[in-house]
Order: sequence, then structure tokens, then C-alpha cells
Amino acid sequence: MSTRDTCWLNKKIANKHYQTYYLAEKSPLATTIRAEFAVLFANASEVDEKDKATIVFERVLNAKLGVEGFEMTVSENVVTLSATSDKGLLYGFYHLYTQLAQDKAIQTIVSVPDQAIRMINHWDNMDGSIERGYAGESIYFKDNKFRRDFETIRDYARLWASVGINAISINNVNVHKYETRLILEENLPEVKYIADIFSSYGIKTYLSVNFASPKIVGGLTTSDPLDEGVNDFWAAIAKNIYRAIPDFGGFVVKADSEGEPGPFTYGRGHDDGANMFARALAPFGGHVIWRCFVYDCAQDWRDRSIDRARAAYDHFIGLDGKFDDNVTLQIKLGPIDFQTREPVTPLFGGLKKTNHIIEFQITQEYTGHQKHIYYLAPVWKEALDFDTKVNEKENLVKNLLKENSVISERSGIAAVGSVGMDKNWTHHKLMQSNLFAYGRLCWSNQLTSKEIAEEWLALSFDLSQEAAEKVLAILLTSRETYEFYTAPLGIGFMVKPHLHYGPDIDGYEYDRWGTYHFADRNGIGVNRTSIDGTGYAGQYAKQREAEYNDLATCPDNLVLFFHHLPYTHVLHSGKTLIQHIYDTHFEGVARVENYIATWDVLSEEMPAADFENVKTLLQEQHRVAKDWRDQVNTYFLRKSGIADEKGRHIYA
Ligand code: GCU
Repeated sequence: MSTRDTCWLNKKIANKHYQTYYLAEKSPLATTIRAEFAVLFANASEVDEKDKATIVFERVLNAKLGVEGFEMTVSENVVTLSATSDKGLLYGFYHLYTQLAQDKAIQTIVSVPDQAIRMINHWDNMDGSIERGYAGESIYFKDNKFRRDFETIRDYARLWASVGINAISINNVNVHKYETRLILEENLPEVKYIADIFSSYGIKTYLSVNFASPKIVGGLTTSDPLDEGVNDFWAAIAKNIYRAIPDFGGFVVKADSEGEPGPFTYGRGHDDGANMFARALAPFGGHVIWRCFVYDCAQDWRDRSIDRARAAYDHFIGLDGKFDDNVTLQIKLGPIDFQTREPVTPLFGGLKKTNHIIEFQITQEYTGHQKHIYYLAPVWKEALDFDTKVNEKENLVKNLLKENSVISERSGIAAVGSVGMDKNWTHHKLMQSNLFAYGRLCWSNQLTSKEIAEEWLALSFDLSQEAAEKVLAILLTSRETYEFYTAPLGIGFMVKPHLHYGPDIDGYEYDRWGTYHFADRNGIGVNRTSIDGTGYAGQYAKQREAEYNDLATCPDNLVLFFHHLPYTHVLHSGKTLIQHIYDTHFEGVARVENYIATWDVLSEEMPAADFENVKTLLQEQHRVAKDWRDQVNTYFLRKSGIADEKGRHIYA
């Protein structure tokens, strides 16, 4: 164990009854269970006969448990954890632990994950930096070498295993010079150290790869996916990796996106590109994850016919059914880029014959850089529970991921990770809740944001009920609070270019990235209707299209994503658009002031370091929230000339 924060694995089970266990297995996963007993139980002892134990692990044949599920049964004060694999036993162990740690009654339960792939993508570079990382340097790399801090990696692996994560890619999807070489012999022994640690916690390791590797490190003159030499190159690479790391997961690929190389260079399609990797990996059971974040990032702001929101659908819908069985498309939750409020991408429900996973972002790129409190579970739940209304009956994203994938084991959820070398992993203590919530939600889609936050609080701290409720209220309102003081009603961005922290309302307005708000003296918003707009709304199923097209039904919180509206437009809430902007921006800052006051009351109950950590960061959140409030309000007062009807001070 390193000296780092133990997060939600923070308590030792002192219950005298549950300290003896029987475990016949000898695999690395079983060894992990033994190690966890030593750390998490006060007096654990392994016994060599079943009937001397109060916790019994059992491998069984039981199809309903699948490969990863477990069953926990209780009879005569003996808990039996059964699973078809040692991985299931490990998940059962953590379940038992969390029940005991929360003093919950031990109850019979069958638990099977709702999503097959439950993945983390790290955007770590070998120089130690992390693209969009806000919690210190990479835990894997430093100075263009491997950091070799295996204790940290082990501690990290156990955190994820305890909430059921089963796949991790360790390097940035933008694959630079040194990282392009990760697939080569010279780096495989080091990758293997990491993969072996992850593997002993049931986690498969993936690498992000550079599409142009054949040219860059293979000595070839082309990286054309239909070229024989290129295919031979990737076949040899795959063979070599699997010789070193037999349970290697596969590749994550960002191609033809934001300057990364891809099949377009050779006049080929994304299907050609992805299937090339698929062929190389297939003999070893390997897997390609191909990202759909493809759009024109050299757009001319003068040309209003292009709509970035359309891009993923336009690029991929025509390729449905053309990918090999071991390819999975990875699709960001929303059509733009992890804004605080976006509609759910229409590819969900649109794709019918292609393995796919939904991509979330745990790292808080647009949501406050882990300096602001932003509990993400509600965002993820909203996406998973989104009814696409395809076929005019209920068709929720969480089900379609599996049902519309050719092989349901190749579907699921991925999220961009948020940890770094900061002692508490996430920089902001409260933002550990997003790690926990992500894992729990991937496993059990029906859990509520509140249930997960309660569990996290109970496992992480020793708070009175009153105090726990205070923190819970902060977490559960945090997303709306952030939404209130930043860009209004689904319009997104207005952030400082590149940094993506703090306000800069026109920062991207005349730039090439396709993220415009089109504010003028009369109004604001993007007309994405299929009536007289960009047609984006037409990518949805009929009912959704009609709902978004029509102002009478389009939800307020997305209204500027779909419509360009005058400041005097009256929302469903009864307020005018301009008054909504003023009110929410004043309210957002007031809420942060309430958080500060609430937090101060918790000084007695919170561990000192955590108390100080959050207290300090709340000051920063307050400073930046005020900046947002004043810049946004001033900007719209100047544009519209309409005064705040409540007469509050706006810098004119
Ligand atoms: C965002 C982010 C980039 C990242 C990209 C991606 O645009 O700002 O840093 O590379 O997403 O998802 O690939």
C-alpha cells in the first residue's frame, strides 16, 4: 500500500463474526482477495475447511451469473459468495465489504453487471502531463519513461475493481512521438508490469495507438489500411504484444479527428481503418475501440451551413453494419463535447448493427477542472435513461447499447479518467465521488444519483446523519449550480479558449472549432431544427425530432442548442430568456456562497485535510463563479439593452 488516500475503501471491518474465510482458489485474483482481507478486515484469517468459515467463496456453474456476476447467500450466519469465475468472487468480496462497512444487513443477492465493458480512458502522455488532467502528473509516466510507481498503480487498480471497472487504456488518444512507440518491443516489458497489476484486479489493459505508426515507426511509406505491408505490420505488432501480454485488451483509436492521422488520408473509410486493426487483433481475441469524435475542426465561422453537432452521425450512420465483430465504436454522450448540458447523440438508437459504447468524461474539462464541485452522476444517468423513441416505443440508451450491438459483450461504457499524482487522486476530495459513481453506475444502471452519493459518503467518512445530508445536498445540486453560472440553456462553451476554465463569452465565436452561440443585439442560439435550421434535429427519431423542432415542446434547458431566440422569448418557466440569464447567474453565485457557509459548519466532522482541501477550493469556485456571473450578465445587458427587472447590479 502506498500512502495515498484510500477513498471509499477507508474502513476496517471490525465485526467479530465475519473474520474467517474459506477460499480454495489459488489464482492471482484469489491472491488479491486474500490481500484485501488483510487490509480491509481487522482480524481476517483463512481457514482450510468450509465449515470453520463464516465467509465461504465458491466457484459454481450458474449461467445466470455470466462471467462476472456473483451471488451472495446467507444462511445460519454464514455468507456464501458464489461465482463462475474468480473475477466474480472478487466483485462479490467487495460487495460484502461495502455492506459490512456501512453496517448494512447482509442479504441474499444476485448481482450481474448491466454493461459488459466498463472502461476508463486515460489521456496521459509519457512526459508525465495529462491532457485535460487536473490532479497532478500521470500515475504511469514521467520524463518520457514509465514512472514505475507500482504501489500507486496497485492502489488505483483496487479502487476501480471495488466498483467493477474491467478495462483501462493508459495513454492519451492523441498519440505523440514517444507514445507511438508504446506498441514496440522496447516498451512491452513495462506495459506488462502495469497490465499484470491490473489483471490481478480483473482489469484488461488497452493502449491508444497512432494510426500512422506503419510510417512513423515501421519504416513503411504508407499507413493505408488496405495496403498489404501495413496489414502485415499490424499483424506483427499484435502478435508481439500478445506474446508478451497474453490477456492484453486491445487498441483505442482516435483517427481523422482534431489533426490525428486516419484512413481519410488514403481515401479510405473509418470501416476500412477499424477493420484493419480488427484483423490484426482477432487471432488473439483482441479488440479495437474506434472513436466517433470526428468533425471538421478547421471550420470557417463565416459559413453557417456547417454544423459540428451533425458530424458524428453524418460520418458513421452510413457505416452501420460494416465493422468486424471485434470493433466497438465509442461515441461521446453529446454531439459536441462534454458541455454541461447537451442533448444525447442521435447515433444511440440510430446505429443498429454495430458494437458501440457511450463515452463520458470524469475529468472536469468543461465542468470546473476539479476545482468546482460538480457531481456527474446525474449527467450520466440522464444519458443512460434517455428515451430515443426509436420505433415510437420506449427505447432507452442503456438498453440499446447492448441490443443494437452485434455482440453485447463488446458494448458498454467508457469514461475519460480524472486521477493524477495528487495524494487524494482527484485534487478535490469531493470529486472522488465521481470515480465511485462512475463504477457503480456502470455496474447497476438503475441506481439513483442520490443512492450512489449516500453510499459514497457512508464509505468515505464518519459523518453524523445531519452532516451527511448537508454534503449530499451540495453534491446533488452541484451540476445545476454550475450550469446556472456558466453558459445558459444548452448553448455551451463561452469558456476561455484551449484552457476551458473561466468565462470568455466570444472566445470561440470567430474561431475554427464550430462552437458558436451567434449572440447579437436581438437574440442568441443555434437553429438546428430540420425546418429551417442545420437539420441536426432530423437525425433523431420522428418523435424526438418533432419535440426539438417545436418551441412548444423543446425543453428549456436545451432550447438554445436547437433554436435562435430573441431575448424577449418567454420560456416554459414563464420568464423571458434575458431574465432567465440574469436570474440564474445571480442564483448560481448565491448557491456557491451557501456551499461555503454549509461547509464551514462541517469542520468538526470532516478530517482536517479534507476540510481544508474543500474549503480552499470553494473560495476558488466562488471567485470564478462571480467572474462568470458578471461577464455573462454584462455581456447580455450590453447586447440586449434590457435591464434586470429586479434591478440588481450589473456592470453596464
Ligand atoms: C476534447 C478535448 C481534447 C481531446 C478531445 C478528444 O476536444 O478538448 O483535449 O483530445 O476532446 O476527445 O479526443
